[in-house]
Amino acid sequence: MKFFVDSADVNDIKAAKALGLADGVTTNPTLIRRSGRDFKEAIQEIAELVSGPVLAEPVGETTEGILKEGRILAGWAPNVYVKIPLTKAGLEAVHVLRQEGIKSALTLIFSPAQALLAAKAGASIICPFVGRLDDIAQPGMDLISDIAHIYSQYPDIETEVIVASVRTSNHVVEAAEYGADGVTLPFKVITQMMKHPLTDSGIEQFLADWNKV
Ligand code: E4P
Repeated sequence: MKFFVDSADVNDIKAAKALGLADGVTTNPTLIRRSGRDFKEAIQEIAELVSGPVLAEPVGETTEGILKEGRILAGWAPNVYVKIPLTKAGLEAVHVLRQEGIKSALTLIFSPAQALLAAKAGASIICPFVGRLDDIAQPGMDLISDIAHIYSQYPDIETEVIVASVRTSNHVVEAAEYGADGVTLPFKVITQMMKHPLTDSGIEQFLADWNKV
């Protein structure tokens, strides 16, 4: 299972890399704004830090606009994938970029129907959002279950499912249970995954006993 870092903050990415948990990186315009960095500089620095895919998102809304920006982003580093919201224009752009040998990821996926279209268009990666579905009281993980089931019916589908909008360690565990190719997660969820109260109390007990030896 792949672990992508959902951040444009190089400190997060370095910390995840030190744990062997930086198979790729996802960014979006919000994360770039939060980093306070210049878009190109941030993406190029991140793309040197990790050897896997670094997803960078254009903001164009027409096919031509997405293509123009996407080709520029893809030229920033060999491992940059163009991350495109799933719209009609986005699907057309993915189809064209694929023919040009440029890898893309379709994002903001909220239904199995969108996931099917993304695979047909030739997206290398899809990012279905679980947390934002949970936020509107729809079980986000049901989407992952549906997509995993549908994609498994067609072995020729090469599109990878990288579960996004991950908010809890349970999201990660459930994504693994459904056989998702990977997850993209903020560093705070990685920290959450390490924690268990019995681990903390166990260490405390061992140390207390050792001090009495
Ligand atoms: C990553 O590809 C997504 O942009 C990100 O996971 C969205 O997360 P959020 O719903 O917590 O903003």
